[in-house]
Amino acid sequence: MSKRKVVLIAGDGIGPNITIAVQKVVAASGAEIDWVERKVGLSALEEGLDVLPDSTIDAIKEHRVALKGPCTTPIGEGFTSVNVQLRKTLDLYSAVRPIRSLNGVKTRFSGVDIVIIRENTEGLYSGVENTISPGVVMSMKVATDKACTRIAEKAFKYARMRDRKKVTVFHKANIMKLTDGLFIRKSREVSQQYSDIEYQEMIIDAGCMKIVQDPTQFDILLLENLYGDLLSDLCAGLVGGLGVVPGSNIGDNIAVFEAVHGSAPDIAGKNIANPLALLMSCVMMLNYLADNEGIEYYAECAGKIRKAYNKAIEQGATTRDLGGDLGTQEFADAVIERL
Ligand code: NAI
Repeated sequence: MSKRKVVLIAGDGIGPNITIAVQKVVAASGAEIDWVERKVGLSALEEGLDVLPDSTIDAIKEHRVALKGPCTTPIGEGFTSVNVQLRKTLDLYSAVRPIRSLNGVKTRFSGVDIVIIRENTEGLYSGVENTISPGVVMSMKVATDKACTRIAEKAFKYARMRDRKKVTVFHKANIMKLTDGLFIRKSREVSQQYSDIEYQEMIIDAGCMKIVQDPTQFDILLLENLYGDLLSDLCAGLVGGLGVVPGSNIGDNIAVFEAVHGSAPDIAGKNIANPLALLMSCVMMLNYLADNEGIEYYAECAGKIRKAYNKAIEQGATTRDLGGDLGTQEFADAVIERL
């Protein structure tokens, strides 16, 4: 059976603990993976490396697939987010984040099934910030034809491939007429090639109101960078929180899988974080490898893992964020028991 090399970045805060839990489950499922461990961010700095070491970038370029834990970014000072740098350096232009209700997780709504497709390389994350004069600072929002077009294409291709019915763009083109204006113009252009998929636009403030009133009316949300970041956490809150929302950052030939959540410093080192979001991201990764490289048994293992965690959740074997009393490693064991 193939044993594929995959880069593993454990990350900071809860990262190393949830990563160990995920590795245990993957090994128990029978999916053989040769993990190539690399560092970024704080953990790289602690070893005397750069914040985004060449050895990490080179390994991801070589193996083309990585599983990444969350990385801490200093707030209001210090180094630029390594998450943002990594996405830009590797041109991982689309973040794909499925947000689904889970049986056994009590929330206000059932039947939520939204996929966020977030532009990952520009917008207000361009990192261009200047002091104009003392007391006056500015941040530049960047939008390009190329990035707006390719993310819209990604959303519609994804919709067709997964048999989804509708793509909704949230925007603020009434205020940001150039940048968000370009985003919706390109989305409209691309939508014309997909007459089988409904296309909808909504000003983001009204969209947020509608999503918390009835999220089941949405299917795929196509969003520029910052809106995608905000809506990911908002939607996570609709299905049980950040512990249950996976994600992937996908370019043309490279993919980095990571949960939506951050390094959760408030619960780091306590073995109470939910490893499920990273485990779900890993399931996405196994399916990606099965689809793109024909490693079919990875898809079988992914299916087994998904069934096992669903069963664990339905039976109330969960971590504290979902109302249970299991620790991080104990939840991994509960999944393994049900494989
Ligand atoms: P966060 O996502 O780390 O935490 C927000 C809240 O959710 C906290 O109360 C935390 O305990 C809880 N939470 C998050 N993940 C959880 C899990 N797996 N199980 C149970 N509870 C969980 O966001 P926060 O606190 O705003 O950011 C912390 C750090 O993470 C910052 O440095 C931020 O820049 C970084 N970050 C990194 C990301 C990445 O690596 N992709 C994404 C988001 C934030």
